[in-house]
Amino acid sequence: MRVLVTGGGGFLGQKLARALAARGKLRGQDISAMELVDLAAPAAIEAPFPVTGTAADISDPAQVGALFASKPDVVYHLAAVVSGAAEADLDLGLRVNLTGTLNLLQAARAAGNEPVVVYASSWAVHGGDEPDPIHDGLELNPQTSYGAQKAIGELLLNDFSRRGLIDGRGLRLPTVSIRPGKANAAASSFMSSIFRDPMEGRPANCPVPRDFPVWHTAPRTVIGNLIYAAELEGAAFGTNRCLNLPGRTDTIGEMIAAMTEVFGPEAEARITWETDPVIETIVKGWRTALVPGKGAALGFAADASFADSVRWFLEDDIRR
Ligand SMILES: NC(=O)c1ccc[n+]([C@@H]2O[C@H](COP(=O)([O-])OP(=O)(O)OC[C@H]3O[C@@H](n4cnc5c(N)ncnc54)[C@H](O)[C@@H]3O)[C@@H](O)[C@H]2O)c1
Repeated sequence: MRVLVTGGGGFLGQKLARALAARGKLRGQDISAMELVDLAAPAAIEAPFPVTGTAADISDPAQVGALFASKPDVVYHLAAVVSGAAEADLDLGLRVNLTGTLNLLQAARAAGNEPVVVYASSWAVHGGDEPDPIHDGLELNPQTSYGAQKAIGELLLNDFSRRGLIDGRGLRLPTVSIRPGKANAAASSFMSSIFRDPMEGRPANCPVPRDFPVWHTAPRTVIGNLIYAAELEGAAFGTNRCLNLPGRTDTIGEMIAAMTEVFGPEAEARITWETDPVIETIVKGWRTALVPGKGAALGFAADASFADSVRWFLEDDIRR
């Protein structure tokens, strides 16, 4: 069982790689090798099987083709330009999120072994005048270039799966909070920084009001769900291989209260509240009330509380 992870140097790619290393198995087989791919070669991680870090740009078909010479059995496609960056630079988003995904699907097709492809889509494919709350089976109506690029990737993943070229599964991830390390270019970056930075002793600004609702999930939950997606049989997803992952809706104020409950009051005191109209415009277009019936019925995990996310951040990630 060979595993390939694009975006393997990123937040979720690194956590997924460590989780797979700890597990050693996928789809009932021992993992024999894992390749982590990113713009800069990801650092090797400890694992009971060989792990390779490879530098490659997914927007270049030749570089993506080379990644499939070893015919990986399971491919996690996590490489992407995130929402803020894709909105700021349309050409960059198209090159990486759209062309890069097409390159990956074409390379998987050319490999000829119908690999399992787990695609990280986003709840940002929803928006605009879709009904509220969002149920499964609605037409997608993204209100950002990032969401549009992810939605096109979903259609391609479905069509390549229908043709038997790959065995695809697309998960629409909620905002994953609390993200460790540095802030990234996602418009949702504040949904982690207002918890991470104050708990690590730094100030952080919240650009939206306290009553702003957020559709979110914890890193531990989403990594478990990414692994589970590969374990399921593709046919279980039906004719649409893409689904809304379970998440939680809480307001920023409720999330801060959960942080205070677990961590104490000193973190909240480090949060400032200056509105950012650019961020607010992007995030207001996102939906926060989703009913992920299909994902729940298939057995994908949901978060019980944001307090758990805070506890897991303290256990897994905090830099004191
Ligand atoms: N984290 C979230 O809240 C969230 C929510 C919804 C969807 N997602 C999706 O999940 C996936 C992983 O997210 P993440 O939070 O780990 O993001 P991340 O930014 O930490 O990781 C993405 C990685 O892709 C790499 N990358 C960018 N362009 C590339 C290129 N041309 N070639 C090769 N690699 C390239 C980046 O260097 C980065 O390491 C992404 O597809 C993202 O859109 C994430």
